[in-house]
Amino acid sequence: MTNILLTGASRGIGAAIADSLTGEGLRLVGQGTRSGIPADFNDPAAPQALWQKALDVLDGRIDVLINNAGIFESNPLDLDHDDWVAGWERTMRVNLTASAELCRLAVRHWQAEGRPGRIVNVASRAAYRGDSPAHWHYAASKAGMVGMTKSIARGYANQGILAFAICPGFTMTGMAEEYLASRGGEKLLADIPLGRVAAPEEVATLARFCALEAPPSMTGAVLDVNGASYV
Ligand code: NAI
Repeated sequence: MTNILLTGASRGIGAAIADSLTGEGLRLVGQGTRSGIPADFNDPAAPQALWQKALDVLDGRIDVLINNAGIFESNPLDLDHDDWVAGWERTMRVNLTASAELCRLAVRHWQAEGRPGRIVNVASRAAYRGDSPAHWHYAASKAGMVGMTKSIARGYANQGILAFAICPGFTMTGMAEEYLASRGGEKLLADIPLGRVAAPEEVATLARFCALEAPPSMTGAVLDVNGASYV
């Protein structure tokens, strides 16, 4: 039995990942703000509470952690200092700090049990190509996820603990629809050689691969799913 904890499972990419991880031998616990085990990562205590509840449901063993929950808020420069800093900190807390805390708990769990484990972090193309001026903080949070993933891979490969990052480009979820509508979808689509945004199921295929099948020598890999829109 492979026990999996997935964050942000209630909709979008997370819901597609959850759908891809059903089947014999798999047991999935999803976290959502509105479904599965509820957790709001604005609360610094939430990741630890979530981890403990997931362990309880999964009989004390988690084999795979998938950090998918995330927010994409606009944080333009003309905001007042306090509002801008609050926006920066909210994005860091939800996208990066909560993921980091769950990674820490997962690594310690596997070390204590002397078992292998896998981490899949859903980052973004923004991690390496940046984002719009109002989304520095989002790009920085996702670059942080990539750096964290590679560090975990380097640090614990010899203990059988593997870590992967997935970097989607635009993917057709509520998050992307809102942005495409506000920023002029046609121009943004023209920058994607494939000519369309990704389907959540395409990202989910990759997440399932990393969670269950990717060969150990791939640990630390950062996998693109963006229709060749690299720059
Ligand atoms: P979405 O907005 O449809 O779903 C986000 C998920 O995160 C939801 O399940 C929500 O409950 C959870 N979440 C949001 N705020 C939370 C909080 N405070 N505490 C706990 N959970 C919270 O977004 P989508 O598109 O499915 O995004 C999933 C991941 O993929 C995110 O990390 C996002 O940054 C990343 N991504 C999405 C892209 C896109 O174009 N849709 C592109 C690149 C990366």
